[in-house]
Amino acid sequence: MSENVQTLLKETRKFQPPLAESVGFEKWHVESLDEYKKLHERSIQHPDTFWAEEAQRLSWFKHWDHVLDWNPPDAKWFVGGKLNACYNCVDRHVQSGHGDECALVWEGEPVNPRTNHPAPGSAYAHEPEIRRVTYRELEEQTSRIGNALKELGVQKGDVVTVYMPMVPELAIALLACARIGAAHSVIFGGFAPHAISERAIDANSKVIITADGGFRRGEIVPLQKNVEEAVKQLAEKDHHINHVLVLKRTGHEHPKFEGGTVPASLKAADPKAKTKFHWWHEIAERVSSACPCESMDSEDMLFLLYTSGSTGKPKGIVHTTGGYLTFVNTSARLTFNLVPDTSQLFWCSADIGWITGHSYVLYGLLSNRIPSLLYEGAPNFPDNGRFWDIISRHKVTQFYTAPTAIRTFMKWGTEWPDKYNMSSLSVLGSVGEPINPEAWIWYHETIGKKRCPIVDTYWQTETGGHVVTPLPGATPTKPGSCTLPMVGIDAAIVNEAGEELGANKGGLFVIRKPWPGMLRGVYGNRERFISNYWGRIKDPKTGTPFYFSADGARRDEDGYFWVQGRVDDVIKVSGHLLGTMEVESALVSHAAVAEAAVVGVPHEIKGSGIVAFVTLKSAWAKANPGRQPDDKLRAELTSHVAKEVGALAKPDQIRFAESLPKTRSGKIMRRLLRDVAAGVEKITQDTTTLEDFSVVAKLRADEE
Ligand code: WTA
Repeated sequence: MSENVQTLLKETRKFQPPLAESVGFEKWHVESLDEYKKLHERSIQHPDTFWAEEAQRLSWFKHWDHVLDWNPPDAKWFVGGKLNACYNCVDRHVQSGHGDECALVWEGEPVNPRTNHPAPGSAYAHEPEIRRVTYRELEEQTSRIGNALKELGVQKGDVVTVYMPMVPELAIALLACARIGAAHSVIFGGFAPHAISERAIDANSKVIITADGGFRRGEIVPLQKNVEEAVKQLAEKDHHINHVLVLKRTGHEHPKFEGGTVPASLKAADPKAKTKFHWWHEIAERVSSACPCESMDSEDMLFLLYTSGSTGKPKGIVHTTGGYLTFVNTSARLTFNLVPDTSQLFWCSADIGWITGHSYVLYGLLSNRIPSLLYEGAPNFPDNGRFWDIISRHKVTQFYTAPTAIRTFMKWGTEWPDKYNMSSLSVLGSVGEPINPEAWIWYHETIGKKRCPIVDTYWQTETGGHVVTPLPGATPTKPGSCTLPMVGIDAAIVNEAGEELGANKGGLFVIRKPWPGMLRGVYGNRERFISNYWGRIKDPKTGTPFYFSADGARRDEDGYFWVQGRVDDVIKVSGHLLGTMEVESALVSHAAVAEAAVVGVPHEIKGSGIVAFVTLKSAWAKANPGRQPDDKLRAELTSHVAKEVGALAKPDQIRFAESLPKTRSGKIMRRLLRDVAAGVEKITQDTTTLEDFSVVAKLRADEE
């Protein structure tokens, strides 16, 4: 048992939910544990009436015929209903008289060199750039970009790839897709060109929206350059991108092009290149500002979002319109106690490129008419107080971030948050990985001043929204536990046979009934949809498949869930999912590498760190006579991984070995490597820098 799990088992502190007034609210949506229990019970016993009431909060062009069709593992929600997600997040608020209210508050990373004076009350030499976007402006901009996409040939049902920095236009791009009935597929701006090309080909996407660059920690991220590279890679595979729409964000030199033409840099590589690049502002100005919201079937795809799996290739998770929007609307409202028409300002620090950003920067917030704050850059630019400065200047009311960020803030010290007045805060959220009690307590005391309830929300790209979480006015919290299931979620801990386990028995996390936000498939891969999520665990009585999240967890004597982490070959690095196979494939694509095995190890800040065991091709030894694998080669392999996958996949450690320990049937002994990497198992080192696994491998071969 890992140390972490042992501390969690010992954790007995309990925090009661505060009174609504003490955090500046009039009331909580759900005011007591008892009320939550009744609501949850009703949502499970009568899902049809419960979810019909919730779905009524949205505007439908046509009412559904019935709530649910459930043919496991396929669910259809609000069958026959018609709606539009952009209409629900934007137009209806304009029509109900809220057009001039703020929908997005955006702050850029650079501290603006244009106003050359210290901003009042700001610690910086210059004011950061701030934009406030109203619902009316969003309506106009999403209409213009909707029309722009149509002009570029995008039709209802097509997939548009989006690779952008955290700027309001990213939200506008997604809502514009939704407006015209195209699905968006967002690729996190930290990923490398290969990630763009493999996802675009899988989604059969022909149009990409990007920006010339984005600002991150004072530097420019070369987004457009990466897209050009991806376009070239795709052309080699005979997949042609027709158009790239480019937002001018950084305005830096590289690479210039004239709107509506094939950039010279592409032509230089391939004279037959036919991908046209367009400037966002040029098209947006030219096209009409009238663009009706398409009437979409409740089950039409709203978006695709790729997530890592235990094979090398990411999975395109399919979410549809009616169920997803209902689920994020309800979960956002209850988990964060959202109340429109008040002075709430919600800040989720996740990038829109992840599911957290889709659900709780964009759709869950705007569909509730709650302004959402977007920040473009890094938490330590220009100094370690940036997040707290943002919270105090904008008077953020709900703040949602990841444990890895919290642990980093702890390391930086309380002097940073202590400089700022953060009394506007009411609810604090955590997401992405288990939060260790120490970080939970720090968050509660240092940021929340012991006033603000902490909501530790457990969920996944596949679940669309929160599936286990406290409700801030109802659920007593225990540091490290994500507590109790969201309404409508029938969660359980079971063994391989699907039998529910008793208190404090570690098992597998499953959901036994369908819920509106559940994934509808893995794009173009039915087999993977079934085998990954539905093929492993069944209801022992009826044989109905259960949804399996691939996480191990336990429930304590109060029924509280404690997530222990992934049970597959997927690791969480700084809250980002990464398949070990993705990193291995990147390593073996380097000329020097013969074999690679990648494992996760506990890491103080990142949750998991990446350790790669690598064997080299004999050709490398021949080409480098007398040279031992060294730090220079390590650095080369590390930057190769960054180039192939993205910086977040860089191994923390690369260890060279003669050979990798394998079982008699040839399987790499990962468990052994994990122990070696974590220092649990010492191996006998000879005098060279190569590790020799033969001794331990022999000892362990029979166990695996
Ligand atoms: C992990 C992120 C413990 C879990 C929303 C899950 C968590 C994976 C928590 C999904 C939490 C997320 N406590 N573990 N509160 N939240 N996880 O798809 O392993 O990027 O399976 O979605 O993150 O990651 P994904």
